[in-house]
Amino acid sequence: MSFPTDRPATWFVTGTSRGLGLELVRQLLGRGDNVAATTRSTERLSAALGDRVDTSRLLPLAVDLRDAEAVTRAVHRTGDRFGGLDVVVNNAGYGFLAAVEETSDRHVRALLDVQVVGVWNVLRAALPILREQRGGHIVNVSSILGLTAFPGWALYCAGKFALEGLSEALAAEVADFGIEVTIVEPGYFRTDFLTTESIALPATTTDAYPAIREMTTDHLNLQGSQLGDPVRGAEAIISQVVSGGGPLRQLLGSDAHSYATAKVDALRANVRRRHLAAH
Ligand SMILES: NC(=O)c1ccc[n+]([C@@H]2O[C@H](COP(=O)([O-])OP(=O)(O)OC[C@H]3O[C@@H](n4cnc5c(N)ncnc54)[C@H](OP(=O)(O)O)[C@@H]3O)[C@@H](O)[C@H]2O)c1
Repeated sequence: MSFPTDRPATWFVTGTSRGLGLELVRQLLGRGDNVAATTRSTERLSAALGDRVDTSRLLPLAVDLRDAEAVTRAVHRTGDRFGGLDVVVNNAGYGFLAAVEETSDRHVRALLDVQVVGVWNVLRAALPILREQRGGHIVNVSSILGLTAFPGWALYCAGKFALEGLSEALAAEVADFGIEVTIVEPGYFRTDFLTTESIALPATTTDAYPAIREMTTDHLNLQGSQLGDPVRGAEAIISQVVSGGGPLRQLLGSDAHSYATAKVDALRANVRRRHLAAH
């Protein structure tokens, strides 16, 4: 177990002015841990925290995650301020709802820039520190849609599936350095995720995919009534890091659990059919 027990831990969390990231920051500060919190708007972060949260152990960092140098500077500022780094949470992300053929090159690159390149920037900056100290924990917030895919979610799934592949390889690469990796796979959570602040839409659509238009409207209307409680989600993530030694994948929510089970069953049936066909 690499989580420090003799001093406050230092966490580096991305995407913190709203949702799960904000809740993580709140709870970590409540525990007395040190938190470097990246956001595109430190004003939005401090407004969201309000004046009842003790922010003496908070380092708010305005960072564009797509900018490798800015990310490296942020990781180094974290070390300078807190004297180390223990846990990295790659949480920032947003959705995109459209059919594959309606998804422009610009939208593809923009989303992958945040959800894949941005994570890679953080990892490149943080891993040498964790490796040298021979311990630490990387938490990559994926989604149940990093494991299974639905019509209209192709770009988001492409980003999260990429994150899962990267994380699985990383976990095996860094285990001998005492670094743990957790892939968090939430189901629907009551954050801002299903608002138009966090779901991007295509500039133009065709009339060939009415089911995707309907699904988009249904999802935007779902905002506020999602099953998962972000307070409990953040608690579960913190608890898995503090205990250490958990499974690679942390499913959050009963819906995520059902979708994951269905995916595993479908994959097993698929593998079995191919196996039989080969003999
Ligand atoms: N809520 C769900 O149902 C759900 C389900 C599965 C997975 N997830 C994943 O959980 C993570 C947290 O999402 P959430 O539910 O807390 O949603 P949220 O309330 O919309 O918060 C998303 C956070 O990501 C950051 N972000 C959004 N767009 C960004 C961009 N273009 N560039 C950089 N940062 C951006 C924001 O940070 P700043 O504005 O502070 O920069 C924001 O704090 C995401 O990775 C999401 O994919 C959510």
